[in-house]
Amino acid sequence: MEYTEKVMEHFMNPRNVGEIEDASGVGTVGNASCGDIMRVFLKIEDNIITDAKFKTFGCGAAVATSSMATEMVRGLTVQEAMTVTNKAVLEALDGLPAVKTHCSVLAEEALRAALWDYACKNGITIPGLEAPKEDEHGH
Ligand code: FES
Repeated sequence: MEYTEKVMEHFMNPRNVGEIEDASGVGTVGNASCGDIMRVFLKIEDNIITDAKFKTFGCGAAVATSSMATEMVRGLTVQEAMTVTNKAVLEALDGLPAVKTHCSVLAEEALRAALWDYACKNGITIPGLEAPKEDEHGH
């Protein structure tokens, strides 16, 4: 299995690891097949994502995709953040081995769960955003 240079670089030097204490939205998702967990924190001001961080108990591919995804959403509006899909992140990383694609889905799901959390707390609707599979807040 081969990892691209960009994947290796983000894995060795992950951006945005940590948490945001006064996050506007937090999303936690798990991968049922490997048991790995991903949590994304978003700071949103005036509809703009001003900060994004992640914490994970996950593999290298999950780290690299979350690192890239948190980089990509920063500065976007919450609506624009919906364009940061699994596919977009994979393209930005020049791809992942096919067996690792499921790992990258974790980044997209955690990001969307954090957006969902924000939307619920603020009573807004983000076009195209659906409830996370496991909604820990019971909305
Ligand atoms: Fe679990 Fe990659 S093996 S996220």
